Amino acid sequence: MTRGIRIAKGLTLPLEAVTQTFGLLAVRGGGKSNTAAVMAEGMYEAGLPFVVIDPEGSWWGLRSAADGKGPGLPIPIFGGDRGDVPLEETAGQMIAELIAKERLSCVLDVSEFSEGGKRRFLTDFAVNILKRNKDPLHLILEEADDYIPQKPMRESARLLRAWQNVVRRGRKKGLGVTMITQRSAVINKDVLTQIETLIVHRITSPQDRKAIEGWVVYHGQKQEILASLSGLKPGEAWVWSPWMEITDQFQIYRRKTFDSAATPTGAKRRRRPATLADIDLGAIKEQMAETIERVKETDPKELKRRIKDLERELHSQKQLTKAPTPAPEPQLVEVPMLTAEERALLVEVGERLVEVGGVVEASVNELRASNDGLGGLIGSVLNRQKAHVPPRPQYQPKPRREDAPQATISTPPRSEPAESDGGYRPRAGARRMLEVLARRYPLTTTRSQLRLMAKLRKSGTSETYYRELLGNGLIQEDSEGWVLITDSGLGILGLSSPLAPMTKEENIESFRGIFRAGARRMLDILIEIHPQGISREELFERAELTNSGTSNTYLRDLARNGAAEVNGNMVCMGEALFL
Ligand SMILES: Nc1ncnc2c1ncn2[C@@H]1O[C@H](COP(=O)(O)OP(=O)(O)O)[C@@H](O)[C@H]1O
Ligand SMILES: [Mg+2]
Repeated sequence: MTRGIRIAKGLTLPLEAVTQTFGLLAVRGGGKSNTAAVMAEGMYEAGLPFVVIDPEGSWWGLRSAADGKGPGLPIPIFGGDRGDVPLEETAGQMIAELIAKERLSCVLDVSEFSEGGKRRFLTDFAVNILKRNKDPLHLILEEADDYIPQKPMRESARLLRAWQNVVRRGRKKGLGVTMITQRSAVINKDVLTQIETLIVHRITSPQDRKAIEGWVVYHGQKQEILASLSGLKPGEAWVWSPWMEITDQFQIYRRKTFDSAATPTGAKRRRRPATLADIDLGAIKEQMAETIERVKETDPKELKRRIKDLERELHSQKQLTKAPTPAPEPQLVEVPMLTAEERALLVEVGERLVEVGGVVEASVNELRASNDGLGGLIGSVLNRQKAHVPPRPQYQPKPRREDAPQATISTPPRSEPAESDGGYRPRAGARRMLEVLARRYPLTTTRSQLRLMAKLRKSGTSETYYRELLGNGLIQEDSEGWVLITDSGLGILGLSSPLAPMTKEENIESFRGIFRAGARRMLDILIEIHPQGISREELFERAELTNSGTSNTYLRDLARNGAAEVNGNMVCMGEALFL
């Protein structure tokens, strides 16, 4: 029986490592992938499932023995040019469900995806593995700084948030993580602090060493050794682990599987393994088929599509039943508009929609109830503030205030969401409105801007949300129609003071997000030429739009929301964008 995961002489990780958080840091060639492979092999032997996220396409060697002549681990590789099963960029949710249900160890090779495709896949995967996973599972994240960066591009904010959540809240769901990076300085500091065991191979750059120093100081660990990091040989590592109560240097074992990441040197050509472990592909495909069906059944998009189809059918039935010429004598004829089967299907679809609504509501409630309900919001303002996340309760870190690393600057003090009095709890849409206002504070918005930024349609429901927020004193509207969040509003979000003010760029970004592409192009032009104006025709032309009804609608949308000002035929940037 395996009692632990042996990764070096004198270093055996307890089996609980599977749900722990590790950081594996080093320069390229320091030995990170080897160490991760040794951990993966150990988990496999111990019957603990793991998943490797492989943005480089270098993990397929796990399937072959070190000398390439015998089999390695019989686990499937999804995606990449050596994959057993191709991976679609839309399959993140499906794969997450499959792994959570089947406890499948595997490699997810995302090396062939476009940047956008990778983002989509990894976001969906992270969101859904956190949602679905229940039993111990270890995620090995190669090139983690790629998707858990300190400074995300705007389009990667959701991706970062999804992985932050996995790292922060995954433990409760059985998820452990090993984050691997050769750029310690750029991995997200908030996430770095969550690491419970740090394994550091050779590090040369001062910035990267600084990031490690930050962690070491934060966790009250010994610093003396930091200086020796640059002299480490491949496979040599310092291990800091408050969890295992270890601070020591080790020579990590060499992996037993094929080193597919090794760069061929000199005349020596890259070896190709002769034998790969067999896997039961048929079984995997069958499991996948089942999961695909299940995902489809609960996918609101799919339901909407089915409803559309049914509506279309219904419509064509109606057309058919319309009499071509008016009958002289009106006659009452019963025309079955829907077959019994169609009716049953509609009822079923309706019921499913209610179910989906329930699921959404439940997760919203869960988010609200969780201490960290504002995690998403905080994530989106990370550029301005670095969240201080209290360390997990398993051990007692000893943060030293005076030399605490920069990364632990605190967010505005949080208070528990104020909702225990059984009072008003904003629904998801209303809550989004509040979040928009908290983020924009001290900037105000008009009611219609607010609605748009909270991604709500003009409807009775959004009006109700607005009135509820007003009625409960969570927002205020001044005599000119500008809306502002109140202290109670901040309280409901679990914030005791507003977030840092938005920068000009952030203000512009928050506006850009609410318009459609054509309008957005116009907006960009207006911002660029500001304080100059431009004629309507020229604006359309430069935005590659024709002078059509649609273009004019775009322009009206911009004007209505204060993003553009139209004066006769001249257009300029609107005052909502001034800061
Ligand atoms: N524990 C080890 N013992 C001996 N050699 C090692 C060890 N780890 C790595 N190496 C050597 O260093 C090379 C690079 O290791 P690798 O794990 O791919 O580095 P990284 O992932 O940090 O870029 C390996 O191909 C191997 O030759
Ligand atoms: Mg590597």
